[in-house]
Amino acid sequence: MNAYRTVLIGAGRVAAGYAHDPLNVASVRYATHAQVLASHPRFAWGAVVDRSGDAAASVARQYSVPLSSTNVAEIIEPLDPEVAVLAIPPSGRYEILAALPNIRAVIVEKPLGATIDEARQFLQACSDRRILVQVNLWRRADPVFRSLSAGLLREQIGSVQAIVCMYGNGLRNNAIHMVDAVRMLVGEFQSVQSVGPSRTPQPGMAVRPAEEDRDVFFAAIVDEDITASFHPLAFAHYRENGLDIWGTDGRLSILVEGLVVQSYARRESRMLTAEFEVSADRPIVQPSVEGQAFYELYSNLAAALDTTEELCCSGEEALRSTLVIDAVERSLSSGKSVSCRP
Ligand SMILES: NC(=O)c1ccc[n+]([C@@H]2O[C@H](COP(=O)([O-])OP(=O)(O)OC[C@H]3O[C@@H](n4cnc5c(N)ncnc54)[C@H](O)[C@@H]3O)[C@@H](O)[C@H]2O)c1
Repeated sequence: MNAYRTVLIGAGRVAAGYAHDPLNVASVRYATHAQVLASHPRFAWGAVVDRSGDAAASVARQYSVPLSSTNVAEIIEPLDPEVAVLAIPPSGRYEILAALPNIRAVIVEKPLGATIDEARQFLQACSDRRILVQVNLWRRADPVFRSLSAGLLREQIGSVQAIVCMYGNGLRNNAIHMVDAVRMLVGEFQSVQSVGPSRTPQPGMAVRPAEEDRDVFFAAIVDEDITASFHPLAFAHYRENGLDIWGTDGRLSILVEGLVVQSYARRESRMLTAEFEVSADRPIVQPSVEGQAFYELYSNLAAALDTTEELCCSGEEALRSTLVIDAVERSLSSGKSVSCRP
């Protein structure tokens, strides 16, 4: 099988830096694009580009990548990339795309754009050139999330009744991941209502969200009549992007950012005759996220380039989740409930 000539744009944390944290390496098999690119047989990693020449050169040196540069134009002639991994914030992506003449696919980081219009323009530019867009909302590629979405969630807890989500470090930075996970596992958002207060995210040591990002408590109706609440946490105290999903036949929690997945069965109540409970004190440990998602995201893209296989997180899919976040922000401004129906 051929390997697609690939350039990594951006040499920061998600590109390569997280792999310097031994705890991250121990708990997540693939936490960076560099780790995947260095080992995936379907991608020939030919260049690293970053505004910072030192950052680009350092990643290129570490992974023995042939080319590094501060300017994407310089790597076109020697590499002629077919795939670009855009591991940079939204600004500048459009210009980079324009500078890559023969690109067939991009893997792009969330958020899709600094605004909804920018996200749409980026996707339109890709669509005009028939460039495939795979967005790194990684839960869509993760085997645990995929099997839950394919029927295991329903098998374990029945029909979903209510969802509680904890997130932090910003709506655009992390709530987008959780909104996308809820869409993947449960269904489409019908409406959202920001409850407030709107706070500046309080990050921990590792990651700072973009300046304009906000933390806000919001409520949502998902699918027909499933209620969901999204609670921001200050990561200065501890991190969590987690879900607690309550069904008709039990409960499933996905906590510690996916490292702890537990279900709880419905049993006869210990308190009232002829009633039932969900036994919170008897968790059933489920397979947890192992950090294969980044790798699977690339495998899926290679399959989509080879054949007509569907992308697991296409630009259009990511845009739908982005529109939910946009609706939350509009609800925050207006104080009103905002419909998410197309
Ligand atoms: N999917 C995920 O789980 C996940 C996790 C972390 C970060 N991200 C996203 O990835 C993006 C990057 O985040 P990060 O934490 O790695 O940031 P970072 O600041 O650590 O790294 C960004 C790098 O890109 C370079 N850069 C920026 N604009 C550039 C341009 N136009 N051309 C060339 N180089 C450029 C910077 O010099 C820097 O080295 C953000 O959009 C962030 O939200 C996603």
